[in-house]
This record gives sequence, C-alpha cells and structure tokens, in this order.
Amino acid sequence: MSGSRSDDEAFDRVVRHIEDEVPFEPGYYNEAYLGRRISARMQRRDADNHTEYLQILRSDDSERDELLDALTINVTEFFRDPDMWENLLPVLRELTDERRRVAAWSAPCADGREPYSLQMVAADDPEVTERRLDVVATDISEDAVDAARAGVYETTRTTDIADELGPLDSYEPYVEQDGDTFRVRDRVREQVTFDTHDLIRDEPESEKDLLLCRNLLIYIDAAYKTPLFETLRASLREGGYLVLGKTESVPPECRDAFEPVAKRSRIYRHVGGE
Ligand SMILES: C[S@@+](CC[C@H](N)C(=O)[O-])C[C@H]1O[C@@H](n2cnc3c(N)ncnc32)[C@H](O)[C@@H]1O
Repeated sequence: MSGSRSDDEAFDRVVRHIEDEVPFEPGYYNEAYLGRRISARMQRRDADNHTEYLQILRSDDSERDELLDALTINVTEFFRDPDMWENLLPVLRELTDERRRVAAWSAPCADGREPYSLQMVAADDPEVTERRLDVVATDISEDAVDAARAGVYETTRTTDIADELGPLDSYEPYVEQDGDTFRVRDRVREQVTFDTHDLIRDEPESEKDLLLCRNLLIYIDAAYKTPLFETLRASLREGGYLVLGKTESVPPECRDAFEPVAKRSRIYRHVGGE
C-alpha cells in the first residue's frame, strides 16, 4: 500500500498530526527527510502503512516522544570534517590578530561539540589570540542546549569521543576523561555562552565576525532556505566569515554576497550586498 495515493494522504495526515501534537515544526523540513524518519519509526512499530502508524501515534503517548526523538537531527561530532578546522585556522589567526574582539556564533550547535571544538582550536594554536574570541552557541532545541551547557560526552558502541578529539595533539588540557566519560573542562566550558534560537523564526544577530551554520540547510525545505540564509547574511558584518556543512552551498540568489575562501571546506567571506 505504501506509495499509493491513499497512503500519500495518510502520510499527510501523519504530518498534520505532528504539527498539532508534537513540539516540532514539520513544515521547515523537506518531505524526503520527514519520510525517512517516519518510515524508520513505522518499521520499529511494525506498521505496514501510514494509516496504521497514525493509529499507533494517536493511542500511544510514548510513540509521540519516540517520533520527536527520531525527527530531531542532532548528529554532531567534535572536529566534524577535520579539513575544515585546518582551513579555519588562518581565518581565526587573521581575525584575532586584526580585531580586539572577535564575535563567533555556532548555530545550530546541537550538543555543543562544534562550539567547544572552536574554543579548543583557538586555545591550542599559538598564533590565535584566544582571549579575543567570544563564542556564542545556539540551537532550536532546549534539550540540545542543556546538554551543551553540561559538556559531558560518552564513548559508546557508535561514538568514539577520544577519536573525535584526535585533531588535537593532546585533549588533556581541555577535556577530563574518566573511563568512557569525557567532561569539557571549566576553562573551556565557561568561555562559550549557550542559548536557544530558531534560525528561521527568530531575529538575526548582528556584526558577527564568524558564523558556523553547518548541517542544517540540508534538511530544510526549499521554501525556508532563503529566509534562513537572510538571517545568516544579516547576522554577519561585511568581511565576516560564514562556514557551511560539507555538502551545503550558498543559494544562487545569495552568491554575490559570499566569496569562497576555502571552497571545499565551505568557508566563505561576506563581501557585502543586500
Ligand atoms: C545535524 S545538527 C548540526 C550540528 C552541528 N552544526 C554540526 O554540524 O555538527 C542540526 C541541529 O539543528 C537544530 N535545528 C533544527 N532546526 C533548527 C532551526 N530552525 N533553528 C536552529 N536550530 C535548528 C537541531 O536541533 C539540531 O541540533
């Protein structure tokens, strides 16, 4: 039945149910992404079609929480795409050399591993003036921001935190390890300010020198990409830098405003323009 017209209608009913009953905004995301996540839950619950799944969703409150969990894309890593961090070093050196204060924004920050990576490379490189760097990190999810503030990460079957921290010669000065538990040290944690922020609905920031917006655009529905990009552009000062995820790109209508600095690492410079 999957793929038939009545199943398509049932899929739409599942999406409407999410809109009404689950604290999640399905309209932001593209259909392929929503489809994959809902199918994964259907398989777990042995539902053969979307009508059957909707019944489960209506009658079982715990499924609503499981679905919310499946829909929240919070995959992240320390030093995700190590090449990008390599290519970001000259940018950080230049910014902290030329400006008294450097305002950096990691959005979305998920559980904090991205902004902590930024703070750690700045502390670790002798040519970056770390004390000039102010890192703010935000995410739409309150749970993600709470986890980020705590700064505690576990090595599991699928996640090797020591391996993720590999790009640092030694992570000991920044992260305390106790078996499989890794705790970001206070001297790093206290340098990063966390908050919730919705990149589509909330107001832009202003005059940022560096903005990391990685691995969100890929999930966003085409209709919301331009507003999201407008937020990014308005938040950066002219001459500031934008970093996207490895498979993301600047939408054609914004290309005049962003000049590639390290193209494969998706590091761009904001060169002005409305
Ligand atoms: C895949 S993670 C990316 C984390 C990190 N930037 C990275 O590349 O590893 C995507 C994050 O986007 C957040 N998110 C989803 N919609 C958002 C929105 N409209 N505004 C801000 N954050 C959002 C999710 O909560 C999730 O933590």
